[in-house]
Amino acid sequence: MTVNIALLGFGTVASGIPFLLKENGAKIISAANTDIAIAKVLVRDEAEKNSLLAQGHDYHFVTDILDIISDDSVQIVVELMGRIEPAKTFITQALQAKKHVVTANKDLLALHGAELLKVAADNQVALYYEAAVAGGIPILRTLANSYTSDKITKVLGVVNGTSNFMMTKMVDEGWTYDEALAEASRLGYAESDPTNDVDGIDAAYKMVILSQFAFGMTINFDDVRHEGIRHITPADVKLAQKLGFVIKLVGEIVERDSGIYAEVVPTFLPKSHQLATVNGVMNAVFVESIGIGEAMFYGPGAGQKPTAASVVADIIQLSHYISKSETAPAFNTFVRETVYAKKEDLLDKYYFAIETEDKSGQLLRLAELFHAENVSFEQVFQDKINEDVATIAIISHQMDLNQFDSLSDKISNLEGFTLRNTIKVI
Ligand SMILES: NC(=O)c1ccc[n+]([C@@H]2O[C@H](COP(=O)([O-])OP(=O)(O)OC[C@H]3O[C@@H](n4cnc5c(N)ncnc54)[C@H](OP(=O)(O)O)[C@@H]3O)[C@@H](O)[C@H]2O)c1
Repeated sequence: MTVNIALLGFGTVASGIPFLLKENGAKIISAANTDIAIAKVLVRDEAEKNSLLAQGHDYHFVTDILDIISDDSVQIVVELMGRIEPAKTFITQALQAKKHVVTANKDLLALHGAELLKVAADNQVALYYEAAVAGGIPILRTLANSYTSDKITKVLGVVNGTSNFMMTKMVDEGWTYDEALAEASRLGYAESDPTNDVDGIDAAYKMVILSQFAFGMTINFDDVRHEGIRHITPADVKLAQKLGFVIKLVGEIVERDSGIYAEVVPTFLPKSHQLATVNGVMNAVFVESIGIGEAMFYGPGAGQKPTAASVVADIIQLSHYISKSETAPAFNTFVRETVYAKKEDLLDKYYFAIETEDKSGQLLRLAELFHAENVSFEQVFQDKINEDVATIAIISHQMDLNQFDSLSDKISNLEGFTLRNTIKVI
């Protein structure tokens, strides 16, 4: 038999699918228990259709989604257009037409995943999205299947290739943020608007999805604290290096007695930590659990073939169930009520970079402020910026998130002081 699939969009990832289906044909047929054919491809307009045909792409291109939705021979719809709309509407229509859906759209899944999964369940079809987190690393299925017997306590991730490429340049070459962004743009790693990558938004989307697979809970995107790398300076990087750390944008999800918590923040990682070795555009997800212990899953977070490989793996799984006339199980069956951790249960050390006038008594004022919050200094450094201004860098002992927020607020409002940066210390 043959399972017919339809592609929505024919950009970077989608155009990698035919290569894999052809190159690994025999293996795929054996795993899926069926042949898989691209029956239709949705493109934007007639001009794109004609251009793709002229380039030798021999597919049945359509420009109206209804040509796919109303076609009973299409069993799997593969959404690879990106963005929220019209992807959300098209996926909903496909699920309601009882077609399985595969997507790599992390923005959509992080913001509307629960709603789409409900539509899938209501229509007895499945929505799979292995490629949505760390494109080429098979992490979601691993968490859903291989960790079934285990209890995960913490997930750390370097899951945004663009910001990791920039941080690697800032750490290894001493580049400024602007120099690193210019190079990331030149190489095509950064989009014209890099906000989602450099401000931690893309990584926060991925934390929402990972929280479902690792902890069975769905954290709202708005509840994932996220900060980016814009404010990191060569001075921060240099001090981190002196102390045996590298700075990376790290996503973290932890479960405490009171519940779970997720954030994406610049982090001082000890050079000996496995995540500190993840450089350039590479991604990694580091999982701590009571059974397996520590494990790191490392690989390409993006790219045509790595991402298409994850998409095709989902298509194969679904095709297998279709070929056996079985109901495809939900991608993730681990679901618990979402309970958020209390801020007082979230303890970390922090680095504070504070600018102030270079005169006596300034450090004392900061010490009093920390003391009032019941937080002590672990290390203190002072560096002159010019004749009159100095940076005071403080690494604190552990404090909870309430103390951290309160201290950050108080330092920001302290006359004569500018809180230039805060970075979590692992
Ligand atoms: N690229 C990666 O390495 C990677 C990794 C992980 C996940 N993903 C995810 O995979 C998805 C696809 O990414 P991509 O890099 O392949 O994007 P892309 O190269 O921009 O391709 C998207 C394609 O969809 C087309 N499209 C958009 N809206 C459409 C519409 N309404 N009707 C028909 N076609 C439409 C676009 O046409 P126009 O060019 O005319 O807009 C474009 O050809 C995204 O959700 C992305 O987040 C990508």
